[in-house]
Amino acid sequence: MMKAVLLLLLSLTVCVSSDPGSSCVYPPFSWCSSVDSAVRCGVLKQCLQSNFTRSRQTADKVQVELYYESLCPGCRLFITGQLFPTWLMLQDIMEVTLVPYGNAMETFDGKKYIYKCQHGPQECLGNMLETCLLNMTNAAAFHIINCMESATDVIQAAKSCVSLYSPELDFNSLMTCVNGDQGNQLMHQNALKTRALDPPHKSVPWVVVDGVHIDDSALSAFFKLVCDHYKGSPPPACGGRQRAYNTYCHKD
Ligand SMILES: *[C@@H]1O[C@H](CO)[C@@H](O)[C@H](O)[C@H]1NC(C)=O
Ligand SMILES: *[C@@H]1O[C@H](CO)[C@@H](O)[C@H](O)[C@H]1NC(C)=O
Repeated sequence: MMKAVLLLLLSLTVCVSSDPGSSCVYPPFSWCSSVDSAVRCGVLKQCLQSNFTRSRQTADKVQVELYYESLCPGCRLFITGQLFPTWLMLQDIMEVTLVPYGNAMETFDGKKYIYKCQHGPQECLGNMLETCLLNMTNAAAFHIINCMESATDVIQAAKSCVSLYSPELDFNSLMTCVNGDQGNQLMHQNALKTRALDPPHKSVPWVVVDGVHIDDSALSAFFKLVCDHYKGSPPPACGGRQRAYNTYCHKD
């Protein structure tokens, strides 16, 4: 009996002081994606809470569309400095659609579409990588694209960004999409979407929120803009109720 209690105590101590993430093989953004991953990552209670909070957000999400190209400096700054951080905080109330194409040009050679990009062939490759990522990974795509756009070399970073945020995705199958028919067709869809803009885009980044183009001057306070557009009760991040961070890791 005594032995059993001691053993129990021991195993409890081990559990508390060891890294709770040792059986957690998921990046933070997917911890709550299933009960199993939440348990493995030691955040079940927090996930149930945040799922409950989310289920009470019933108003329509703010729809944000970004028309951009992978190597345009202004686009990279907007993605990494405004759009991604805003989405990270406000994804319960907003939905982002990324359309990598921008000022590219498209022609048809009888078999496939040929693309010419403002910042050269490397930009076409970046656009295509990101287009295929958006098609092949779901929640991870924006994390990977932000990781690439934050890097010194957008294209070079692709492989390590994929292995960071979507380790299960085979890079070769991504490249099959990039170099093949599927990528070509998906890029054509981006071209059509971009050409359908009304009013047509004059520059990139070109941002559309709930169907209306947003003036460049409003882009530097994008977080507030999304909060202001939301019709439901403001989430804690917008300055509503205080968010309780009860996931602190205490000292032993
Ligand atoms: C949270 O909600 C998502 C989507 O409804 C669901 O798939 C997931 O299993 C939930 N997570 C937990 C830990 O209950
Ligand atoms: C990916 O692209 C294919 C067409 O090539 C399409 O049928 C499918 O719905 C796309 N999936 C996503 C998640 O966009």
